[in-house]
Amino acid sequence: MVFSLAQLIEERQGDQYLLHEQYINPYMARVQRIIGFDKIYTRGEGAYLWDKDGIRYLDLLAGYSVFNLGRGHPAIKQAMMEFLSLDRPTLVKMDCPLLAGLLAEELVKRMPPGLDAVFFANSGADAVDTAIKFARYATKRPRVVYLNHAFHGLTLGTLAINGGDAFRKGFEPLLPGTGMVEMNDLEALERELRQGDVAAFIVEPIQGKGVYIPADDYLPEAQRLCRRYGTQFICDEVQMGLGRAGKFLCCEHWNLEPDMVTLAKSLGGGYVPVSVVIMRREIHDKVFGSLKRAQVHSTTFGQNDMAMAAGLATLHVMDEEKIVERSATVGAKLLARLSALKEKHEMIADVRGKGLVIGIEFRPPSSLALKAAWTALEAAEKGLFTQLVVMSLMRDHRILTQVGGPGVNIVKLLPPLIIGDEEVEMIVKAFDAVMDDARNLKGRVWATSAELIKQAMAA
Ligand SMILES: Cc1ncc(COP(=O)(O)O)c(C=O)c1O
Repeated sequence: MVFSLAQLIEERQGDQYLLHEQYINPYMARVQRIIGFDKIYTRGEGAYLWDKDGIRYLDLLAGYSVFNLGRGHPAIKQAMMEFLSLDRPTLVKMDCPLLAGLLAEELVKRMPPGLDAVFFANSGADAVDTAIKFARYATKRPRVVYLNHAFHGLTLGTLAINGGDAFRKGFEPLLPGTGMVEMNDLEALERELRQGDVAAFIVEPIQGKGVYIPADDYLPEAQRLCRRYGTQFICDEVQMGLGRAGKFLCCEHWNLEPDMVTLAKSLGGGYVPVSVVIMRREIHDKVFGSLKRAQVHSTTFGQNDMAMAAGLATLHVMDEEKIVERSATVGAKLLARLSALKEKHEMIADVRGKGLVIGIEFRPPSSLALKAAWTALEAAEKGLFTQLVVMSLMRDHRILTQVGGPGVNIVKLLPPLIIGDEEVEMIVKAFDAVMDDARNLKGRVWATSAELIKQAMAA
């Protein structure tokens, strides 16, 4: 019998939650059911998903920024099909594959001055782990400094530089000697660097968890301090790079010249996992610097042709469609429209972002009854009010969002960078309606509050 993926999907489509409950992660499946996210998606195109009943959803998570170019972009899909039809001899070991060289060349063209050596890996965390290893080897120093609220992945190495207890707790001991500092506290950073044992200071130029944006002078000053104390300055652009924040690299907002940059996510065009570290040649040379050490760091699927083809096609489409400029202009429009809602809705405390990463932060209402309802939710679990907003956006407006981190009242929007006026209008209208509804304790937003509190207490 011939294998048919289409037939298999057709036959088993309804089983997906049961299969996950049985074999994968029953808790995740349960969370989806509780918050009303247990859809059976059958199609994705551009910024939208469709479920089995043909209902359309606007996807403001974009696979956590994997689908910057939208789902099924025709040019990337064509490149993938062309790749398969070419039957290229990919992953030949002990080879220097052409496509990896070409993608490295294209990436280097887009980097700040001095970044001209490339290492390809598979995931964001993989790239960050690589950057940590390389910084330690190149400086012969052990320690890494990172920021509170930072997120750089969940491998054992990257967990050690995670700025939140929710992910770390119970997995210790982690990589020793890491040090956490607060964003914008240059004195604390200098205290760490002055010790002379810090290999790297790693930052997301805008933090993904919570969408925290540093003060204007913080990153340039931090970079200067790193130079002064011989510490590698690493910009983790896994989420904010590739146009997300309205520049090709988010660090361009401050004209930074980091020693290393990490990229991943949408570099694979939404089809193939791929990540990369782009660094100064001298760092690379120190790590690999002899024929004997030529393979001292590697990963089996790094440089695979399919990922490289996806990366080349992605960069081409980004240029052709002026994706970075689009992210900047559409993002500015969306930010301005959402910010204007602050005037009308007292529970919106802040709207912040750059390009198409936007965080909307909520605060307790002033009316006594509403405040009591907020306090009951927050006592059960911090961030639950935002969960109600997220659930309402999905249920009533078919918009997919998420709470922007553990224990925060922040919704994070990460739409595909191809959205336009129609989507801006949909997003603003939906938030306006949900916040209108949130003023009414008997309205739809608060309707599921008791159930959420019950589930949080049981957990
Ligand atoms: C800034 C940053 N670094 C690293 C990672 C880890 O990437 P991955 O999930 O591909 O390992 C993420 C994931 O969201 C991220 O946002």
